Amino acid sequence: MASEAAIRRQGEVYVGGMAGERPLVPVDARRLEEAARRKMSPEAYAYVAGGAGSESTVRANREAFERRRIVPRMLRDVSEREIGIELFGRALPAPLLVAPIGVLELAHPDADLAVARAAAEAGVPMIFSSQASVSMEECARAMGEAPRWFQLYWSKNDALVESFVHRAETSGCEAIVVTLDTTLLGWRARDLDLGYLPFLRGKGIAQYVSDPVFMASLNDPAPSAAAQKRRVNLHTLRAFAELTRAHPGGFLKNLRSGVPLAAVQRFIATYSRPSLTWDDLPFLRERTKLPVLLKGILHPDDARRALDHGVDGIVVSNHGGRQVDGAIAALDALPSVVDAVAGRVPVLMDSGIRGGADVFKALALGARAVCVGRPYVYALALHGRAGVLELLRNLVADFELTMGLAGCRTVAEIGPECLGTDG
Ligand code: FNR
Repeated sequence: MASEAAIRRQGEVYVGGMAGERPLVPVDARRLEEAARRKMSPEAYAYVAGGAGSESTVRANREAFERRRIVPRMLRDVSEREIGIELFGRALPAPLLVAPIGVLELAHPDADLAVARAAAEAGVPMIFSSQASVSMEECARAMGEAPRWFQLYWSKNDALVESFVHRAETSGCEAIVVTLDTTLLGWRARDLDLGYLPFLRGKGIAQYVSDPVFMASLNDPAPSAAAQKRRVNLHTLRAFAELTRAHPGGFLKNLRSGVPLAAVQRFIATYSRPSLTWDDLPFLRERTKLPVLLKGILHPDDARRALDHGVDGIVVSNHGGRQVDGAIAALDALPSVVDAVAGRVPVLMDSGIRGGADVFKALALGARAVCVGRPYVYALALHGRAGVLELLRNLVADFELTMGLAGCRTVAEIGPECLGTDG
């Protein structure tokens, strides 16, 4: 069936314009970010927009897209366009997924739930984050049969890893994405300057406090790393109230039990395991039948090694420039990874996708699909579920038009020859 998302979306906007309506969220990516910046708190915006160090990789991600140019071909009958793809046996309406992004409550109180509803309505798979603000079970319930995956941060507690994977399976997730680039938190200048880390305030730990293994681990001896003495003043009291309120259950009960603070301390001490190596992968492989993808691969040798370990897919990503300042742009890393993989498993990519042309360029360089990141958080901040749905529709429409105007009828026709030779 031919895709008509683009014509429908253009029609909606232009006909709406005749009645004095305007799109809910700015169509242009820079104006979208600017509008969200004005709406979000300085801390929330800094956390979402910020990158590691001097943010040179955030810029490089965009420059890599800018450097590549599409060379449109003419007179190819693009009246019927099909942008759908198949991924792990699932037909998807577009080569697009919703990237896992933590702490969405910073953008909107409905957080992951709003994104889950929008993704389900658009038919675009959502990758639930380990750092979500709403548990995977609650999001899954809001999605019906719509596709979702689960992103795993590999905890120091293997039993918790097992529990997360089990919950993902029972929540109907269709793949596990293991994020490898965040075994330590990057050096994020904006957050450091504001002294702001949402997790310390009990935000973004919904998958943990809803997990029986994690909650049982609170009875283990207290983690020593969290025992930093701090002055008690108005700010600490406010932050303490914030983290107590963020915890499920009643405020007074939480205050008396001390569980919220214990949960935050336990989370900080165990959420990620820097000692992780390739030898740990079989542990996961043995515990799930779901496809396992590795996110954060940037070197072709790592891609080869991933294949040797039987992974089912790779996500080329530098975490939106949030981890290693100066890291290679994800789009620049893509061709050599695609080469190394040689079609054996799907290669996805994210980091810098802002419009339809970016999706096209990533596909031209060999990505099977891409994940959209920050732009949907900005749309969420502006208009919740409706904002995210509109953002996804715009991106899909933009891609479909770019593909057709470049002279391609299907995504299979998009290849390196669609880009200029200097790209
Ligand atoms: C992320 N990302 C991320 N990745 C992941 O695997 N688990 C997570 O919990 C998060 N959390 C997160 C929070 C915020 C605020 C951002 C901006 C990003 C990385 C994300 O999945 C994706 O790789 C990047 O967002 C891609 O970069 P762009 O396109 O958003 O710039």
